[in-house]
Amino acid sequence: MSALRTTWSVTDYRRALRFAADAHGRTGVCIQDSSLPYVVHVVEVAAEVIASLAVEPVADPTLAVVCALLHDTLEDTDVTDDALRDAFGDAVARGVRALSKDASLAKSQQMSDSLDRILACPPEIARVKLADRIVNLSPPPSAWSTDKIRAYQSQARDIAARLRDASPLLYARLSEKIEAYEPFCER
Ligand code: NI
Repeated sequence: MSALRTTWSVTDYRRALRFAADAHGRTGVCIQDSSLPYVVHVVEVAAEVIASLAVEPVADPTLAVVCALLHDTLEDTDVTDDALRDAFGDAVARGVRALSKDASLAKSQQMSDSLDRILACPPEIARVKLADRIVNLSPPPSAWSTDKIRAYQSQARDIAARLRDASPLLYARLSEKIEAYEPFCER
């Protein structure tokens, strides 16, 4: 069994951040209901992951941090699986693929399929998913219906339940966010 660590590579962080900023920048997409460039979202997810690493070490902290920064590149940009593998290696490419929905499946199956694939990866990848949903459980976009908001909260409960073993800290934080989301489900 490999030793658990808390420290990660700043060099790899910066390389992944630049790659992600470039890819998301090409789409011109902003965070919904804001003028912030989309890359701010992935930096927020990386911050959640980094905070967990300080108290809950993993075998490969750099894998967790780099996948946090790159987690939406396959789903939301023109970056290909091959480009990701060439730039960051197999473990990162597999992690980001697991964190991406398979658009060939029915929409109702996409999240559970992604969670299955995340659970087949090292626990570093599950941390990214927990962190992603923590960040995404901010006040919902104004265009969302109450039904959609409720479904998003319920999906967050599934994510928390299935991935909780990867990080008690992120699980607790996600559980708080799910509670705090309740008022939006009743509007
Ligand atoms: Ni995301």
